[in-house]
Amino acid sequence: MSEERLDLTVTLDDACIAWQPLHEALEVVDEAGFVPHRFHALAERELARVEADLGTTLGVALSIGGGWLIERKTEAPAVGVPQLLGCAGYHGEGDRGIVGPFHLDGELAATRLTMLLAALFSLRERGYRRALIPGVKASALPAIRAFLGGAIVAQQASPAPTRPRVVVCASGNGSNFQAVIDAAASGNLALDIVSLVTNRRNAFALERAQRVGIASQALVWERGRETRAEFDARVIAAVASAAPDLVLLLGWMHLLPLEFVTAFPACYNIHPAYLPLDPRAERVTLPDGSSQAAFRGAHAVDDALAAGASWIGASLHAVTEDADRGRILARAPLALRPDESREQLDARLHQLEHRVLLEGLRDDYRANWTRKDAAAVSIEP
Ligand code: GAR
Repeated sequence: MSEERLDLTVTLDDACIAWQPLHEALEVVDEAGFVPHRFHALAERELARVEADLGTTLGVALSIGGGWLIERKTEAPAVGVPQLLGCAGYHGEGDRGIVGPFHLDGELAATRLTMLLAALFSLRERGYRRALIPGVKASALPAIRAFLGGAIVAQQASPAPTRPRVVVCASGNGSNFQAVIDAAASGNLALDIVSLVTNRRNAFALERAQRVGIASQALVWERGRETRAEFDARVIAAVASAAPDLVLLLGWMHLLPLEFVTAFPACYNIHPAYLPLDPRAERVTLPDGSSQAAFRGAHAVDDALAAGASWIGASLHAVTEDADRGRILARAPLALRPDESREQLDARLHQLEHRVLLEGLRDDYRANWTRKDAAAVSIEP
């Protein structure tokens, strides 16, 4: 059973959400060896650093508002680049500010409340009079109450996640499929995989489904006997028969038609490249400040290697009519190593994909399957 979470509403007019107490709290953080930076809109390079260092959904979330970043002060700043350790984001929705995403490295536990205060103060400065702090762990409440005093004007239990019915479409090995199976089985993802559809009879994903009793269908395009449209219609019917809330394309290697996208508006794809947040962009900015082509399409890794790129990555995105150009839910860059074999690279890439996939799904269902306005935030003392 996961711990109960609470949504707190705070009035920003309270005397504790003011520059003087924030200034004093920030000085303590500074003395402890950390540098907080405030930002209003993060540059693409910073977003890429956040995704490389902190979490695969944070860049997406931070790109819609402002926030604070924390770096470690180095002994000799000239020698190394300070490491990014945390962020406290915020954004506005109507007349209400929302705190989140919130992510701090374990060693920064003492600065959590300061960063929470900083985000609230920034919302106050932007003219908001109240703010929502969603998803606070019940065990963290006493510390937050002691810190924010009378500013908390309401608290209610965060809605429990519903369990979407998920159909997975996969063409091959199915390691991403397995990652979702395992996360759902261990309680780390609240979803039910109701069926697998594959377009290859020998896809290992079929065996993975059979092992755990997930219904599966292999639909192969009989090119001599049916048109592409007829095959697509069979795929749509097979997926629809499981009445999914969400469809996941996990290594599905067949371009789907507009009819599929219309039939299943909640459909996400895992793609082996670091895609730009702007779906129209043809290039993407990396954590080192360089930029390279956004590798879309069916051969993204091969294309990146052939182009001599320095980075690949993984992105979870919504499926739209334009291939690999839907809204990004989570992404992370991966630096290529000159001496590694293709097997070693594939192993690192798959590991990253599984993380991007699970974090993207987790934060997406927090936002979409439980309530519209949730931000991923977990504030522990
Ligand atoms: C993954 O690398 C995924 O990103 C890619 O196929 C692989 C499937 O691996 N998908 C695409 O290239 C889609 N354009 P898996 O079968 O082990 O999950």
